[in-house]
Amino acid sequence: MSNVGKIAYLQAMDIPVWINKTTQEKDIPPEKATSITDLDWETLADRVRHCQQCGLSQSRKQTVFGTGNLQAELMIIGEAPGAEEDRQGLPFVGRAGQLLTNMLNAIGLDREQVYIANILKCRPPGNRDPQPAEVIACNDYLNRQIALVQPRLILSLGGISAKNLLQTDQPVGRLRGRVHQHLATRTDLMVTYHPAYLLRRPEEKSKTWKDLQQIISHLANRSI
Ligand code: URA
Repeated sequence: MSNVGKIAYLQAMDIPVWINKTTQEKDIPPEKATSITDLDWETLADRVRHCQQCGLSQSRKQTVFGTGNLQAELMIIGEAPGAEEDRQGLPFVGRAGQLLTNMLNAIGLDREQVYIANILKCRPPGNRDPQPAEVIACNDYLNRQIALVQPRLILSLGGISAKNLLQTDQPVGRLRGRVHQHLATRTDLMVTYHPAYLLRRPEEKSKTWKDLQQIISHLANRSI
């Protein structure tokens, strides 16, 4: 991990870091000195495209930044790119993505109306679970995306997304059905099953259908 990555990791763990000014200046190129919280869409996307904060930068084909309506009311956050997403550079374009598109269509939304992103911007090899240091390295990018979109509601897909957005170990079955708050941005957040899980367990689709109904009524109530 680069020094910048190590520092981000230590700071996120609340471990005090003393940064040697000479090292800091040497390690952070001038174009990266701007804090992520100040970046606009273009510079944020560019920062992600060139990111080398963790080892996934070595194995990815390309980064998967996010896509959709930059002023969406609903922001959907999955786990991490899979093989097809890594190939195309777009989130949720494989089999799970097709199901997500169908789920959205079923509640009268299309992909262009929402914003879709992931906890990680790079594919973990073999689709393994994201590691804590990888999540930490990507966290500021996602928080900035949420701050820029300012959605009314975040829909967190699956256990890994919910665990990292809500800092909880509770399973999706316990988290779905109510409104939470994304701590970092104070955005309302609901949880449902990941479409990849629904492909394996189609009998759970009816629960997700209920969750989608709640999402629509939450958005409708909030906009009155
Ligand atoms: N699964 C995810 O969580 N995200 C994607 O982009 C694709 C599959």
